Amino acid sequence: MAETWRILIQEGEGTEPREFTSGVRQLDLTPSELTLWLSDQETRSFAISNATIDLENHRIELRARSLPLILEYIYRRRSIRKYTNEPVNDETIDLLLKAAMAAPSANDVRPWAFIVVREPERRRALAKIKQWAFMCADAPVVFAVLGNPNFSDHWIEDCSAAAENLLLAAAGLGLGGVWVAIYPRTEYEKKVRTLLNIPPNWHVLCLLAVGHPAEHKPPRTRYEANKVYYETFGA
Ligand SMILES: Cc1cc2nc3c(=O)[nH]c(=O)nc-3n(C[C@H](O)[C@H](O)[C@H](O)COP(=O)(O)O)c2cc1C
Repeated sequence: MAETWRILIQEGEGTEPREFTSGVRQLDLTPSELTLWLSDQETRSFAISNATIDLENHRIELRARSLPLILEYIYRRRSIRKYTNEPVNDETIDLLLKAAMAAPSANDVRPWAFIVVREPERRRALAKIKQWAFMCADAPVVFAVLGNPNFSDHWIEDCSAAAENLLLAAAGLGLGGVWVAIYPRTEYEKKVRTLLNIPPNWHVLCLLAVGHPAEHKPPRTRYEANKVYYETFGA
């Protein structure tokens, strides 16, 4: 593949693309949208301000985005439902759980608990709970996000914030994940409760299937100006 690569770098629209043919290059660019043509088939745009290109070793490093990194990952988080066979290691699982538990929580009660499900048979059983839970079979790790209403009547909001934090952290670590809704469907919750041995005082808000992505979805915001009012509704 390396022979067919031709790397052209264009810094901003309307500027002349520059070509790089060999060696390691350090590019000092002003923060801007930048387009890389990696081959005839593949064109990618990045918001970056510099790059290291190492053609011999097929490595391109892009750094210092012009968008604040947090926004980049918020837009990059998409529902990823196809995964490679590569496992998610323990260290990464810890990072994801730490991100989840960094979420805001009403009165700082943190009424959540998480079950890390990796055993293939158990994941396959979770995948059968409903049609749109099939991803649990192939994702190397599934997190069950539990909340306890005895601890807080804001458990749904708290656990949702934790779930979103985990998905954002997954995106930031180059992983892909998807939210599988369980609560408030009692029939689904009952099945998860049995499979994961969950006591009756805990609810199952959702499952989060996470793995190394085997599908690409472009980053995006779904901003809709007609859903934003200023000062009073309708204005
Ligand atoms: C509360 C909630 C429940 C969801 N439940 C499911 C689900 O059960 N199965 C599924 O495949 N996706 C589920 N999703 C993912 C949505 O389908 C997805 O977020 C939406 O289509 C937007 O796509 P995006 O996540 O790529 O931006 C759920 C998302 C949320 C927030």
